[in-house]
Order: sequence, then structure tokens, then C-alpha cells
Amino acid sequence: MPKHFLSILNLSHGELEHCLDVASAMKRDRHMRRRAPSAAALDGRHVALLFEKPSLRTRSTFEVAVHELGGHVLSPPSDVALGGREDLRDVARNLERWVAAAVIRTFSQQRLVTVAECAPSLSVINALSDEEHPCQALADFLTLKEHWGRLDGETLAFVGDGNNVAASLAHAGSMLGVNVHVASPEGYELPSRVVEEAAAVSRHGARVRLFRDPREAVRDARAVYTDVWASMGQEAEADERADLFRPYQVNADLMAAAARDAAFLHCLPAHRGDEVTDEVIDASYSLVFTEAENRLHTQKALLFMLLGEGATC
Ligand code: CP
Ligand code: NVA
Repeated sequence: MPKHFLSILNLSHGELEHCLDVASAMKRDRHMRRRAPSAAALDGRHVALLFEKPSLRTRSTFEVAVHELGGHVLSPPSDVALGGREDLRDVARNLERWVAAAVIRTFSQQRLVTVAECAPSLSVINALSDEEHPCQALADFLTLKEHWGRLDGETLAFVGDGNNVAASLAHAGSMLGVNVHVASPEGYELPSRVVEEAAAVSRHGARVRLFRDPREAVRDARAVYTDVWASMGQEAEADERADLFRPYQVNADLMAAAARDAAFLHCLPAHRGDEVTDEVIDASYSLVFTEAENRLHTQKALLFMLLGEGATC
């Protein structure tokens, strides 16, 4: 197992598939209220949660996950740990003396790399950066695997900003054999770097394809995914983006252009009436709360793999 999870690309194909399998087993145990074999995997160990941006799902599910693996959570205030009170490299060198892992939500991906490089005995987990949201993609592909019964050969359409969530979906989809179609307005496409990275790890002929027209992107897709038009840190651009992204709203009309049995996904939080309408997010085909639940199971599996079963020290 790699020590860090800064990106989906840190996992091999086998590790990614194993993570989804372990998460399924943990989900079953929890639903049956069975004491899982992993219940003491983090016994006596601590995990630091450092968040520079708001969070409901990621923070809550990591707290529950660490607790259910027998570990303890440490949450230093973000302005103290990440706010420039001291050099980030010194923060990392302190943390590695106390905790086994640091789960970090920040702005640039480079800040995660810095922590990982400065503190070799600390496992660093990306809880969202401006570039990637790999923990979200784990939950989303567990959700789709449960829903479809398989992954390879299927097509997921992402409609909206080619952002952090879209990047991790493209990485994971390609590795799992799922075609990922991304429809975005001009200037907001998935970065070409991500398309190239996805192509390099693609399995079963899966492709990432970029579209301008959302109706073309969703044609034949068995899942339609969207995210906010302005991500955290882009609030000043919200009005300008709203005008550009309006034609990319996921509404009943757009869902009707997708495969007949298409599901709807969203990482949440959603801005109802903007990127998605109530009729879609509240429809029977919407999987958004299963995605949120699966954040817990997949992050438990990830922590177990990084710090428990597969840990090298
Ligand atoms: N989907 C997600 O990461 O939600 P939070 O921002 O609430 O953690
Ligand atoms: N793209 C969004 C995802 C939130 C979970 C953001 O970065 O704000």
C-alpha cells in the first residue's frame, strides 16, 4: 500500500478495487450491527483532521470512521495548524511525532505534497484540494457499483465545471473501466493534464471525453453527475459563473436525454435551483444520500488499508 492518498493515482488498479471490496464488507458488517474484524485496527492511534475549508460530510465521516476503527481524532483549529502561524513544514514535523495520519482539506495540492514530503512517517490523506477530491470518487464508484452491479463498460456523464470532483472521477473511472463524459462551458473544461493522466491508467478501453453540449454528453450515460458551479474559494466568481453555467443545469429535461434508467449523483452540498433542480435531486433515481453514506464506508476501508492491514510501519 502507498503511505499517502493525495490522489486516486496513488493507488494501483488492484488497490482501488480492493478498497471498494473492503468498503462493501464494512458496510455489510455495520448494517448488521456486527463487530467487524477491523474494529480495533487503529487501536491507540490518532488521526489529525486539518480543514482549511468548510465540511459536513468529509469531516463527519472521517470522525466516525476513525472512531469505528478504534482510533482517536485530533482536530487542531485550522487557523493554528494551517493559517501561517508557523511554517507548514514545521506543522508536519510536529504532527508526525503524535499522530499516524493527517486528513487535510486545503487549497493547492502542493500543500499536501509538502506535508507528505516533510513528514515521512505520517500518512497524508487528501480531504479535498483545489485540484482533486479522491475520497469523494471512492464513495461515488462504490455507489455506482452497488447500483449497476458492475462498473466496466458503463458510462458516467459529469455536467458542469471541470473541477476537483470531476478530476478524481476521471481518474477513478478510467482505472475501473468506466467511460467518463465531461460537459463544460468554454474555459471551464477538465484540464488536459487530467485527461492525459486518466488515459495513462485506463482499463477495459475506458475513455474520458470532453463535450460542450450537455445533451450530447449524457446520451447513453447511465449516470449523470453534477457539482456546484463555483467551488469553495471561488465565491467572488459566483455571479459570472452562474450566467455561463445556466445551460448546464441538470433538470428533468436533461435527465430525459440520458439512458432510460440513468441515476443522478452529486457530491453535495447542492445549490438547488442552480446546478440541479429539486425534481432531479429528490427523484427516486437520485443516489446522493447513498453517496454520502458511502463516504463513511470507503474512508474506513482507506484508513484500514493505509494504517491497518497494509501498513508498512
Ligand atoms: N462532498 C463533500 O466533500 O462534502 P463536504 O464539503 O461537506 O465535506
Ligand atoms: N467542487 C466543490 C466540492 C465540494 C465538496 C468544492 O470544491 O467546493
